[in-house]
Amino acid sequence: MRIDVLTLFPEFIDAAAAVGVIGRAQQRGLLAVRAWNPRDHTHDNYRRIDERPFGGGPGMVMSNQPLRDCLAAMRAAASEPAHTIYVTPQGARLTQRRVRELAALPRLILVCGRYEGIDERLIAAEIDEELSIGDYVLSGGELAAAVVIDAVGRLQDGALNDADSAAQDSFENGLLDCPHYTRPDEFEGESVPPVLLSGDHAAIARWRRQQSLGRTWLRRPDLLARMTLSKADRVLLDG
Ligand code: ADE
Repeated sequence: MRIDVLTLFPEFIDAAAAVGVIGRAQQRGLLAVRAWNPRDHTHDNYRRIDERPFGGGPGMVMSNQPLRDCLAAMRAAASEPAHTIYVTPQGARLTQRRVRELAALPRLILVCGRYEGIDERLIAAEIDEELSIGDYVLSGGELAAAVVIDAVGRLQDGALNDADSAAQDSFENGLLDCPHYTRPDEFEGESVPPVLLSGDHAAIARWRRQQSLGRTWLRRPDLLARMTLSKADRVLLDG
């Protein structure tokens, strides 16, 4: 998969995409992330990227021309068709379901805004989808783009070392993840739930499912309300 990012801070995207699972996925050739700076497509001596908003008011708006020229150069850099996303608090909330769909596409273009955002005509002409990573406002789209790159990149085939670990993530089955423990089994007087040391794989699976259900019930009842629980799950949840 290829992800091109339009950003005034390419070094931020380069750094975020160079470490951990995403860095390794790039080294393995499963993912290619490239950052593009629209300032390289300005025509004035000051390399100016923002203008005052029509109608007045605070802040600045990123102007059309350098962003459009930058996007044109980005599109021309590879032959795969790109799905173009503007990350903005005005977008639809990103979910694991949408992440999975995006991860199956050959190419994404992510557009990061700064200041008050980008000219609305650019959104109409160039953007396929607007996505938000949550109901709070960041000072720019770079962190949100890094979130999309990470969530989508780790789902590329071969990116995770243990093939099962994505399937067991929180949200992949609609529930929060169960608790995890590792050695030693006794740490400063705190022990591990005995079932995890029992070697009884069916009992362990049942316990984990019950923990997931219980946590989701306590912490995210909204997720549970959207699910139809099996009879077995209802028994586990009722204890
Ligand atoms: N840019 C600024 N805030 C954002 C958010 N919450 N999600 C996506 N992009 C953003």
